[in-house]
Amino acid sequence: MSKVQSPTSNNEQPQAPNADTQAAQADVGLSRDFELTVTDLRKSFLSPTGERIEVLRGASFSARAGEAVAIIGSSGAGKSTLLHLLGGLEAVDHGTIVAGKFAIDRASQSALARFRNQRVGFVFQFHHLLADLTAAENVSLPLLITRVRRREATRRATEMLAEFGLDSRIAASLVGHLSGGEQQRVAVCRALITRPALVLADEPTGNLDTAIGDEIARSLVAYARDNCALVIIATHNRALAEICDRTLILRGGRLFPVESSS
Ligand SMILES: Nc1ncnc2c1ncn2[C@@H]1O[C@H](COP(=O)(O)OP(=O)(O)O)[C@@H](O)[C@H]1O
Ligand SMILES: [Mg+2]
Repeated sequence: MSKVQSPTSNNEQPQAPNADTQAAQADVGLSRDFELTVTDLRKSFLSPTGERIEVLRGASFSARAGEAVAIIGSSGAGKSTLLHLLGGLEAVDHGTIVAGKFAIDRASQSALARFRNQRVGFVFQFHHLLADLTAAENVSLPLLITRVRRREATRRATEMLAEFGLDSRIAASLVGHLSGGEQQRVAVCRALITRPALVLADEPTGNLDTAIGDEIARSLVAYARDNCALVIIATHNRALAEICDRTLILRGGRLFPVESSS
């Protein structure tokens, strides 16, 4: 089980605005047409037997706002690791990750927390929703963290759920009572509710049937276009990758472009 926390389970409290935090907030800002540049990324882990596993061995790529990019690769290739580094959830061993003017690999923990809360939407394979809260409450959480009032947050959450075909009855249901497909749509709404500039989706359709998986992938691609956001989807499913604008394959710890089959 990953130790990584979703943005909504982040314990860090918002700080009072002052000159310092405003300057730092400018740092994590992303211009509308920002570029993400990843250069020579390396990351290794120590296995339980003390062996060093080199997962990323010089991965490089760049992408622009408005694009939906698929990262494919077999299980264990390092897709999740790459997304964790891109979202600043884990530290790089070597290499640089720059989103707009924000150097993710060199940022302080507090700047990274702001970056994640304000600019990044995460969708995880096992959605990490809070089962004892309603769908609308789960989707509201990222707004509450950025100090939107509860009533307004609930209104926006309910509206977004409706856009994803989840009506007010479902919005008011406990997440634990929803189907897998409904839960994953709630997770996507939670990731997108703050209109993040960067969306990192890790096998977002991993345990769903094809039709629902397809619909979720298409909604993420549409989000990239409509909001000029950069959406990166890790998947082992090549058919799903075809829905994205382009595909990169992670192999031997490095990234390579994949030609579209269509
Ligand atoms: N925190 C960790 N500690 C030790 N090994 C890890 C850790 N995270 C990932 N790994 C290992 O790194 C490799 C790549 O994992 P991962 O990024 O999850 O691949 P993928 O998402 O492509 O299936 C795997 O061998 C995995 O066991
Ligand atoms: Mg993975």
